[in-house]
This record gives sequence, C-alpha cells and structure tokens, in this order.
Amino acid sequence: MRSPRFAKTLEGIATEADTGMRIPERTQGRDVVGAMKAAVFQGPGRMSWQDVPDPEIKDPGDAVVRVDVVTICGTDLHILKGDVPETLPGTVLGHEAVGTVVETGRDVRSVRPGDRVLVSCVSPCGRCRFCRENRYGQCLGGGGWILGHTIDGTQAEYVRVPFADLSLHPLPSAVDSYDAVLLADIFPTSYEVGVLAGAVRPADTVVIVGAGPVGLAAIATARLYSPGRIIAVDLAPSRLAAARELGADATVTDDEGPEQLVADLTDGLGADVVMEAVGIPATFEMCTRMVRPAGRVANIGVHGKPVTLHLEDLWIKDITITTGLVDTFSTPMLLRMLAAGRLPAGRLITHRFELGQMEEAYDVFGRAAETGALKVALGGPQHTAVEVSGGPAAG
Ligand SMILES: NC(=O)c1ccc[n+]([C@@H]2O[C@H](COP(=O)([O-])OP(=O)(O)OC[C@H]3O[C@@H](n4cnc5c(N)ncnc54)[C@H](O)[C@@H]3O)[C@@H](O)[C@H]2O)c1
Ligand SMILES: [Zn+2]
Ligand SMILES: [Zn+2]
Repeated sequence: MRSPRFAKTLEGIATEADTGMRIPERTQGRDVVGAMKAAVFQGPGRMSWQDVPDPEIKDPGDAVVRVDVVTICGTDLHILKGDVPETLPGTVLGHEAVGTVVETGRDVRSVRPGDRVLVSCVSPCGRCRFCRENRYGQCLGGGGWILGHTIDGTQAEYVRVPFADLSLHPLPSAVDSYDAVLLADIFPTSYEVGVLAGAVRPADTVVIVGAGPVGLAAIATARLYSPGRIIAVDLAPSRLAAARELGADATVTDDEGPEQLVADLTDGLGADVVMEAVGIPATFEMCTRMVRPAGRVANIGVHGKPVTLHLEDLWIKDITITTGLVDTFSTPMLLRMLAAGRLPAGRLITHRFELGQMEEAYDVFGRAAETGALKVALGGPQHTAVEVSGGPAAG
C-alpha cells in the first residue's frame, strides 16, 4: 500500500509554493494502489510503458522520489540496442530526473519528504576508497552508475534512490526543474570528463567533435574558462546550428575538412584541447590527428568497438589522452552556477512530453536526425494516488 502513503506525503507537505512544481490533481477512479507506470526494458529493441510495483525503501539510506521531470539519454538508446548487457530485461530505464522526495529511510539526513531534488545519474556510497577521492563513478560500495543500469531507474512515476544523502541534491526555488534535470548527467559529464580532464585554459583553441547534448554542454562549460576559440565538428548542420547558439566560434561538418580548418586556424600546430563526444573509432582517431604537440585529447564518448591508437605518429608528440565515466562530484558547483544564471542548461531541451507519452518521446529522441531532437523532457506524474482517509483535502 505504497501509493496512499506517497499521496499523504505530497498532500501534507509538498505544495506548489514550496516545491515550485505543479502538484497534479488526484486521478479519479483509477486503482493505483501499489502500482505505477514505468519504462521497462524488455530486451534488445523493446521498451514498454507499463504497470510495475511502486518502489519501496530497501536500505536505510534510500529515498523514494516522485519523478516530476525526466529525460532520455543516448545511453538509454545504447541499452535498448543491447550494447549494455549488464542491464537485464525487466529493468526500469532512466538515470536523470528532478522529483519530490516522498519517503526516506531511517539513515537519510540531508533530504526529507517534500524536498524538490535533482536525482544524479551516479549514486555514490560515500564510504569506499574511490568515493573518498570523489571518484563516485568508480564506487566499490554498491553505488556508481546503477540507476536504470543495474537497478530500476528514473523513467517512472516513482524511483527508489540508494545513498540518498549524496545522490539527491535539494534544489533552490530559483532553479527551474527543466534546467536542473540536465545537471543529472550531461553537464557534469561534459564538464568533468571533457573540460576538466582536457584542462581547458584561457586562450586555448578547443575542438569538440560531436555536437549532441554532451558536446553542446561541453561548449557551454568550456566557455567558463575563456578559451580563445571553440570549434565544433558534427555531421548534422542542425546540431552545428545549436553549437553556434551555445557559443561555438566556428563549426564544420566532416565533409568540410575539420582537420584542415583546425590546422589553418592554429598555424598548422593543432588544437590545445580536443574532446571526443561521439564514441566511434573514426572520430577518436580524428581527435588524435587534430591535437597540437603537448596538447590534450579528452575522450567523453562511450565506445563499443576497439580504436586504433596511432602511437607511430603520437609517441613523439607529448600528448595527454584521458577517458572516464562521469563522477558527478561537480554537480553542487554546477547547480550554484545554474542558480546564478550562468548555465544555459534548459536550452538543450527541444521537445516536451507528458510522462505517459514515454514511448512517443523515445521515438522522437531515437530519430533525432529527422526530428531535430537534442534532449526530450517528460514532465508530470500520472497519478498522486488515492484519497487518504482523514487527510487534508488537496488545494
Ligand atoms: N563518459 C561518460 O561518462 C558519458 C556520459 C554520458 C554520455 N557519454 C557519451 O557521450 C557521447 C555523446 O553523447 P550524446 O548524448 O551527445 O550523443 P548523441 O548521439 O546525441 O550525439 C553524438 C553526435 O555525434 C555526431 N556524429 C556522429 N558521427 C559523427 C562523425 N563521424 N563525425 C562528427 N560527428 C559525428 C552526431 O551527429 C551527434 O550529433 C556518447 O558516446 C555517450 O554515450 C559518456
Ligand atoms: Zn546518460
Ligand atoms: Zn563508493
């Protein structure tokens, strides 16, 4: 009987004024006790928006969050393609959300029911060797990227979030949920694995290969370091238009000779920093050809195939190559930047849907080349569950 408890929490604590979110009207006449809708991975190529049991607190550090805004990540498409074998059929997808805490385990201290929170894509245990070094993505204590990967995720009406003290970030009222949701994954990813790992410095020439959501967020966060110029490379003119809007100084398609352009703009030397935000061998190899001697190549892309590292050319160039999974240690800082109006996060959202339109949203996101989708966002839960006997009437 979970849903009535959630309903009581939401009616008793969360109001429009204190969450900044629309609290939906009660669904009349629908039996929602103990059941919710969720995007369930059905094996390669198949996802369905279907009834599943409401999540429950399993560990004292857990919280249950009502999902108010959720997005779909390119990585969800990788899972659907069957590229992520550890994600088993039956798993609820999704690792990005903004929501409202409805229940907390007895050990949770930093959030309480009614709080509007960002659900991070990485859930750190906070205690293991790597968490103590802020390398949350490498968590050895049962955390890391688990939501929508090895446990049920956020593309649902409710989600259980482990290690809630570190995985949930209370949101200041000034921050819009549709901006904040992009800080669950793509902004910390591009900032940590691209900009910080690539050590972008003032006056640098920065090349970003791949102008999808991650590459675009890399443009926005690289600009925080006043690079001399940012050059964006992509196949799709629509994505390069978005890159220019977000602050790329020059854009070039693969057909237009990006390597020649970079050489021309740097007196033949190459770029100081090159970021790979695609995840295929051709673009990684292109990045290593565009970097200057002693420059940095920051690989962000998730690769499914082996890549050739041309050490016969590279050994003499003193270059640094970095790769990594996002840790999300930078999320609190990015949230402060967002609150200060310094991150154009929500501009990446091109399409909005109701939560119940999950299958349609996947279709639009999965055909991004035709639909022009960058990020799709789904908002609004489908139910606040049944009347609580004796509880206050919803306003
Ligand atoms: N390291 C991490 O922790 C982490 C986290 C999230 C995402 N990622 C990865 O980052 C990458 C980018 O994510 P995204 O959501 O922006 O993906 P996306 O698929 O939306 O964007 C990729 C972009 O690359 C472009 N592209 C494809 N082939 C190209 C080519 N040959 N030359 C130039 N551009 C080309 C596409 O047109 C597209 O705009 C993916 O591989 C994703 O899995 C990594
Ligand atoms: Zn993701
Ligand atoms: Zn850990």
